[in-house]
Amino acid sequence: MKFFLDTADINDIREANATGLLDGVTTNPSLIKQAGRDFFEVIAEIAAEVDGPVSAETTAHDHETMMKEGLKCAEIASNIAVKVPLTVDGLKTCKALRERDIMVNVTLCFSANQALLAAKAGATFISPFVGRHDDVGFNGMELIEDIRLVYDNYGFDTQILVASVRHPAHVLESARIGADVATMPWGAMRKLFNHPLTDSGLKGFDKDWAATGFSIL
Ligand code: E4P
Repeated sequence: MKFFLDTADINDIREANATGLLDGVTTNPSLIKQAGRDFFEVIAEIAAEVDGPVSAETTAHDHETMMKEGLKCAEIASNIAVKVPLTVDGLKTCKALRERDIMVNVTLCFSANQALLAAKAGATFISPFVGRHDDVGFNGMELIEDIRLVYDNYGFDTQILVASVRHPAHVLESARIGADVATMPWGAMRKLFNHPLTDSGLKGFDKDWAATGFSIL
């Protein structure tokens, strides 16, 4: 499974990238606002830092303007995935951009039927938001199971990019189901490294090693 970072914070991206485990980045207008810098400057910087796909989100609601925005975003770098919302105009834009061989991430997906439409429109990635689904009393992971089943039934190659990931259980469930990508903030990705038994085991080894008086170097 691929790991994307869901952020526009270049420091977090550099830290995650240094682990060698980062496969891409997703951004959205709220994350750009948090970064507090020019959209094109931030996206270009991220795209130069990361080898994998970097999602840049369009903001228009109509197909014509969204298409213009998408083409402008795609010009920033060859690893840009244009992010469009799961609306009629968003999927029209998805189809048109895919015909030009531009990667497209269809965002704000909350049902398997929506994911089916996105796959038929040729989306490179579909972004179902599991955390926000949980927030309103649904089980976000059931949505991922349904999308996996539907895509496998018809052999769609649209990648399931699990979004709005809040904690390690979301990542584990995504991997169990066979989702292609999980995108999360660096804080959530950091938690994947942690286990109390790793910490206590390390402490015990440190203590015993110190008692031997040996040194490897
Ligand atoms: C995905 O592309 C979205 O940017 C993101 O995962 C939304 O997460 P949130 O629900 O934590 O804002």
